[in-house]
Amino acid sequence: MEASPPARQLLVPELEVPAPEVAGQLAFWNEVGLEPMPVREIASAEAVRERVACLAQEIAHELGGEPLTLAVVLRGAFVFAADLARELIVNKMENLLVTFFHASSYRGTKAWRAPVIQELGDAGTDGRRTILIIDDIVDAGHTAEAMIQRLASPTRRVEYCALLDRPEAREVPVHPRYVGFHLRGPGFVVGYGLDYDGKFRELPYLAQWMPVPSSPG
Ligand code: IMP
Ligand code: MG
Repeated sequence: MEASPPARQLLVPELEVPAPEVAGQLAFWNEVGLEPMPVREIASAEAVRERVACLAQEIAHELGGEPLTLAVVLRGAFVFAADLARELIVNKMENLLVTFFHASSYRGTKAWRAPVIQELGDAGTDGRRTILIIDDIVDAGHTAEAMIQRLASPTRRVEYCALLDRPEAREVPVHPRYVGFHLRGPGFVVGYGLDYDGKFRELPYLAQWMPVPSSPG
């Protein structure tokens, strides 16, 4: 069984993440007590919260009647999954199970090997419960493809939910059904769980990582 494509792609808001040289000036977050960071905010914490609430409504509307297991792709989806799970209960989706997978294929901004998928523990992906895979971003699509292959079964429904989707980067045909934001452009996104080399996961908003230009000579 394939995870099914989205029903209402047109309603997904877009975030622009142009190449850093096009995005212009570095924007540093300069609050007292924090080091300046080379990031440019692209969606505020409030905008993300509102969008996650909409997604939860959409998911509850479509999957509300079924016993549901959330299969969270670590590490990038940990913040998104925590917020989404709590929005699902607001939408009366009770008795959720949550299980965790580790997927790793990135170093810095470049894929360096095929994703290795590892389930942590063994809660909840046996049997007939509907599975909703929760991921941070679908980029080339290799992680999504590997997760779907891993969890596909003729006895249950498997759906994909990604906070971010960058369709332009796709190398394999996967189409997450539930998407928080579409990304337009090649810029690298951090914050709200997403990292660059392990950093910036704790930012409460989404931002574009802005590499400091190397000085000429
Ligand atoms: P894919 O297998 O190429 O689709 O890549 C998916 C994984 O790559 C995501 O789960 C992220 O961990 C990582 N990734 C891809 N693009 C970005 C980005 O812009 N920011 C942070 N992580 C990213
Ligand atoms: Mg990831």
